[in-house]
Amino acid sequence: MPDKKNRRILFSRLMVGEPKEEDFELIEESMPEPGDGEMLLRNLYVSIDPGSRGRLSGRDSYVPAKPLGEVMDTQSVSEVVVSKHPDYRFGEIVAGYHGWQDYAISDGKRLERVDPGLGPISTAVGVFGLPGLTAYIGIRKLLKVGTGETVLISSAAGAVGSIAGQIAKIDGAHIVGIAGGQEKCAFSKKVYGFDQMIDYKSESNMSEALTRACPKGVDVYFDNVGGEILNAAVANMRRFGRILICGQVADYNLEPEQRTGLRDVSAFIGKRLDMRGFVVLDHSEFFDEARKVMADWIKGKQLTYREHIVEGLENAPRAFCGLFRGENFGRGLVHVADPST
Ligand SMILES: NC(=O)c1ccc[n+]([C@@H]2O[C@H](COP(=O)([O-])OP(=O)(O)OC[C@H]3O[C@@H](n4cnc5c(N)ncnc54)[C@H](OP(=O)(O)O)[C@@H]3O)[C@@H](O)[C@H]2O)c1
Repeated sequence: MPDKKNRRILFSRLMVGEPKEEDFELIEESMPEPGDGEMLLRNLYVSIDPGSRGRLSGRDSYVPAKPLGEVMDTQSVSEVVVSKHPDYRFGEIVAGYHGWQDYAISDGKRLERVDPGLGPISTAVGVFGLPGLTAYIGIRKLLKVGTGETVLISSAAGAVGSIAGQIAKIDGAHIVGIAGGQEKCAFSKKVYGFDQMIDYKSESNMSEALTRACPKGVDVYFDNVGGEILNAAVANMRRFGRILICGQVADYNLEPEQRTGLRDVSAFIGKRLDMRGFVVLDHSEFFDEARKVMADWIKGKQLTYREHIVEGLENAPRAFCGLFRGENFGRGLVHVADPST
């Protein structure tokens, strides 16, 4: 493929506030060539992750700040097109972190073979990738949700929240979701089985809305957004309630001094609350179990997932900016190419 070009989308300007398409730059380079022990990958799907935002302001988050001029290294599903690596051969489908570009070189590190028996290859970075694993490990391993508990989930129509809600329901919980807009709320009730949904965009007082939806209080809060919704959840927690801080998407575009923060820390004493943060990558010992169990649930029609697939690598920046306006409805992905074999 000597005359082919490699399109790459670089992070080109430190972000202030909402991400803008101009914070990225599309460039064309010549095709990279794999050396000994390496392979050339062609990206098929790349992910659009709200969590990337934390690295794009020049500050470290749980991963170091991303330097300007680097390609956006989100999750990817790729095909091996040239292999000089002893363990991989032409045509294999792999998942890694090769991000917003047509082609990438891999030395095989941080790369997994995609199991085609689990589902369509896009699910390797969806329900069987970080979002699904986050939901499974959060609900089953960390929160250990039990029968009859009231579980509240924010960004409930999203990639993580929709799976977390369904798993809590399988485990016998009463599930209440929060999402933006009537369409997402109606779909989440009908398809994901949420017992109640709250459209936070049409509520002027989230604490009162939560009290109406959860009159006996909340046992477990799976927090994907932070901000005022977290404060409203704390006000509605029952004694010995558990809060899992999974994501803070309402805060990602704010400078640290602009963030709402937790208002009523005393409630943690009075109600004996537990709150913990987690990063799914710390719990890789559960990945195989999670994938197997979720695949069985999908086959048994107990679990379903939704993907929001944008066509064309060049549209990745627009899709990323849209996440923060709730424009994705399901797992945010970009379809870059089809497998050649
Ligand atoms: N801890 C971990 O290891 C880990 C791993 C993966 C993901 N995460 C986190 O999990 C969360 C969900 O990720 P995801 O991939 O499933 O994304 P997602 O929920 O599919 O997409 C993001 C959603 O956030 C909502 N949102 C955007 N701005 C908001 C705001 N200001 N207030 C309230 N909601 C807002 C929008 O939904 P609405 O239309 O409903 O507003 C949007 O669709 C993210 O915070 C992510 O960083 C954490």
